[in-house]
Amino acid sequence: QGRTHQFKLVLLGESAVGKSSLVMRFVKDHFDEYRESTIGAAFLAQTITLDDDTVVKFEIWDTAGQERYKSLAPMYYRGANCAVVVYDITQASSLDKAKSWVDELQRQAEPDIVIALCGNKTDLESRRVVETDVARAYAEENGLLFMETSAKSASNVTDLFTMIDQQADTT
Ligand code: GTP
Ligand code: MG
Repeated sequence: QGRTHQFKLVLLGESAVGKSSLVMRFVKDHFDEYRESTIGAAFLAQTITLDDDTVVKFEIWDTAGQERYKSLAPMYYRGANCAVVVYDITQASSLDKAKSWVDELQRQAEPDIVIALCGNKTDLESRRVVETDVARAYAEENGLLFMETSAKSASNVTDLFTMIDQQADTT
């Protein structure tokens, strides 16, 4: 019989980078081309079983990226064990926004929070403006996990959450 891990995870990042789409892909294995912008925040849970029979339960707060909801974020990241800060590889400004969330988390969240930087929309490679190496170097300098994903193609989405489990379990 395997072990059970449980995580409270928060997603942060600029509006339209694909936070809700990543959660929908992870929880329901589904993608919508026309997803409505999140209002406030949404809660979803997902349980996965790893190859070694470890059961991993994620309680996920998918926050709203629109500026008007910014003041709500501390309610969701306080008490979180892990955070996924998402940017869109086709929008340079979204990486700047992600960096400001990382700064805020490192100042205000739990000191041992595991933070993953996630570059989403890799299916749009022809429109890429944020180079992988640049984002990875920033992540390494700041002690963050790093993954590039596509909620649309499902590339690396489960891997993102599995990587977080592996890191958070050892801290
Ligand atoms: P807020 O709720 O406003 O903070 O936005 P969000 O970060 O939750 O973004 P959302 O998941 O609503 O996605 C915004 C748009 O990007 C939608 O039209 C999605 O279909 C699209 N989208 C999300 N992920 C991907 C992806 O991996 N590839 C592509 N091509 N489009 C994506
Ligand atoms: Mg959303």
